[in-house]
Amino acid sequence: MSLVVVSNRITRGNANEPVTGGLAAALLPVVEKSGAIWVGSSGRVREGAQKEPFAEIEALGAGALAMLDLPAAHYGGYYEGFANSALWPALHSRADLICVSQGDYLSYREVNAFMARALLRFRKPETAFWIQDYHFLALGAELRDLGVNEPIGFFLHTPWPARDIIEGVPHHRELVEAMLAYDLIGFQTEDDCENFASYISSSLGLVVDDGVVTSKHGTTRIAVFPIGIDVEKFARQAAKAISHPDVSRLRRSLNGEKLAIGVDRLDYSKGLVNRVSAFDRMWTVQPSLARTVSLLQIATPSRGAIEAYGNLQSELAKLVSDVNGRHGEVDWTPIRYLNKGFSQTVLAGLYRTAQVGVVTPLHDGMNLVAKEYVAAQNPADPGVLVLSKFAGAANELDTALLVNPHDIDGMARAIATALSMPLLERRMRWEAMMAKLRRHSIQQWFTSFFETLQNARAEREAMQPVVEPPVQWPPAAFGQRLIAG
Ligand code: F6P
Repeated sequence: MSLVVVSNRITRGNANEPVTGGLAAALLPVVEKSGAIWVGSSGRVREGAQKEPFAEIEALGAGALAMLDLPAAHYGGYYEGFANSALWPALHSRADLICVSQGDYLSYREVNAFMARALLRFRKPETAFWIQDYHFLALGAELRDLGVNEPIGFFLHTPWPARDIIEGVPHHRELVEAMLAYDLIGFQTEDDCENFASYISSSLGLVVDDGVVTSKHGTTRIAVFPIGIDVEKFARQAAKAISHPDVSRLRRSLNGEKLAIGVDRLDYSKGLVNRVSAFDRMWTVQPSLARTVSLLQIATPSRGAIEAYGNLQSELAKLVSDVNGRHGEVDWTPIRYLNKGFSQTVLAGLYRTAQVGVVTPLHDGMNLVAKEYVAAQNPADPGVLVLSKFAGAANELDTALLVNPHDIDGMARAIATALSMPLLERRMRWEAMMAKLRRHSIQQWFTSFFETLQNARAEREAMQPVVEPPVQWPPAAFGQRLIAG
């Protein structure tokens, strides 16, 4: 069976090019090894009606990458509008930031329909479709409308919030009903899956029985598949990257001081203001820690055209400059703050250089930076992960120092604890996390999703209602009986 994977963002697989976001980095080895076709946005738009959607196709390991130009008239309403100004804030429990128009919703549906038409080109007699993330909630339903009867699975990389929050999204009912065209819907955590099930039963009035929803589309299985990383590959990459020129320059610049690292997209869900405030608090409460540790915070801009992102960028820049101004010295900058992206190779080397990894989102589907930081460590002298308990990764990485990102004092204390943790404890915590990462690798994620998709499809086929011949009234014999008196 051939596989078509779909996501908005894709990556060309060059380890030396910057890659934005966990999804693209995670899907890369899946496509390279499985031989799938990966279809996503080229990042370019095209004017006018496209009879045949334009895609540039290139090889990617054993698979291929198809980069699609999305329709110019609908791109803004789809990406900056409905996907990232309604769905994204709601999915991260920030209903207060929802800001969309009816036109945005129509554009979102248009782009989903456009993608469905484009996918027909990659359909073979036995094809399974695997749709990724909140950009394409309705894509399964659009494919079904085009007559696609093959297995279609969906995986959500973000959290799924409580029912009342998702109800703040205009057209939520239509969208979730459309999602039930999928054979399988996968979530990162049990909480996400339970929230979804609760929406289905309370808002749609449908029954969820043992992880199966029955709707007008048939049956849909809902289940949990925590996404992983290619652990061994990342560990090898980190060991090698330590001699990369950028990483060597960083090490030389440290003058014996320790390094904490944070790597995030510049997004309000990542808790960046709280994190910087925690470092500020730590240096204020324990001035002896000044000069002994600095924070390297990489905050890669994305979705810059959206007001909430622009506001965050200004707020963070001001805060970092304020903290550096108050705690800095002529020869010491407390926070090295960079607004650009780095390649996987360089990031792996930076993670290995840092004694502390700070991953403290307010809410996150999984957060693969946490997993990559752990995989990158030197087994003989591993660093410590300070991890938000509201990141999906905290379910597995429970021997990290778990923190509440809203508790600035608590985070400050945890960072100080991480900095002074003895080697034995660091190794014990790290080994326990590595064992979990190996058990839940990206390969295992792919295999278990794909197998469950095939089973879910078989279940749906088995549950197809038996089509009884229409009941005839009056029954054929009735008239004859009347005639016969
Ligand atoms: O977390 C959801 C997600 O789609 C990630 O997979 C990825 O990290 C990020 O959002 C990408 O965001 P964008 O493509 O808008 O920069």
